[in-house]
Amino acid sequence: MHQYQNEHTKRWAERVGRLDGFIFVTAEYNHSIPGALKNAIDFLYQEWNYKAASFVSYGSGSGGSRAVEHLRGVMGELKIYDLREQVLLPEYYTRLNDQGQYQFSDQEVQAANTVLDEIVFWSEQMKTARERLG
Ligand SMILES: Cc1cc2nc3c(=O)[nH]c(=O)nc-3n(C[C@H](O)[C@H](O)[C@H](O)COP(=O)(O)O)c2cc1C
Repeated sequence: MHQYQNEHTKRWAERVGRLDGFIFVTAEYNHSIPGALKNAIDFLYQEWNYKAASFVSYGSGSGGSRAVEHLRGVMGELKIYDLREQVLLPEYYTRLNDQGQYQFSDQEVQAANTVLDEIVFWSEQMKTARERLG
C-alpha cells in the first residue's frame, strides 16, 4: 500500500523507484532463490511495476537456472517484463583464479553483452508502459 514505516524500507523504495530496469544476481538454494532476495523483493511493490529485468545466476551444475525460473514467476506478480536472455554460471567454484576472481568464458561474456543490450532497450520501452498503465 506504499505506506512505509521503517527508514530502511524508505531508502530501498527510493533506490528501486528511481531505476528503470534490473539485473537480479542470485544463487540457488534448494532449487529456489535465497530467502534474503525474496524478502528484499517483497518489501516493495509499486516501485517494481512496469519495469524490465534480467538475471545472472550461479550454483552447481544447473547454474542457478531453477532459481531463475522461480524468480520469473515472482516477476509476473510484480508486473515486471522479464527478458528471455540471462547469464548462467554453472559450477562457478571451479572457475575461480588464485585471487578468487571468476574467469568468464567467451560464451558468458557474449551472453552478458546481449543481456546489457536488451535490458537497456526494454527498460526504455517500459517507460512508455509505465506512463500509460502505471
Ligand atoms: C542449503 C543449501 C542448498 C543449496 N541448494 C542448491 C541447489 O538447489 N542448487 C544449486 O545449484 N546449488 C545449491 N546450493 C549451493 C549454493 O548455490 C552455493 O553454496 C552458493 O555459493 C551460494 O551462494 P551465496 O554464498 O552467494 O549465498 C545450496 C547450498 C546450500 C547451503
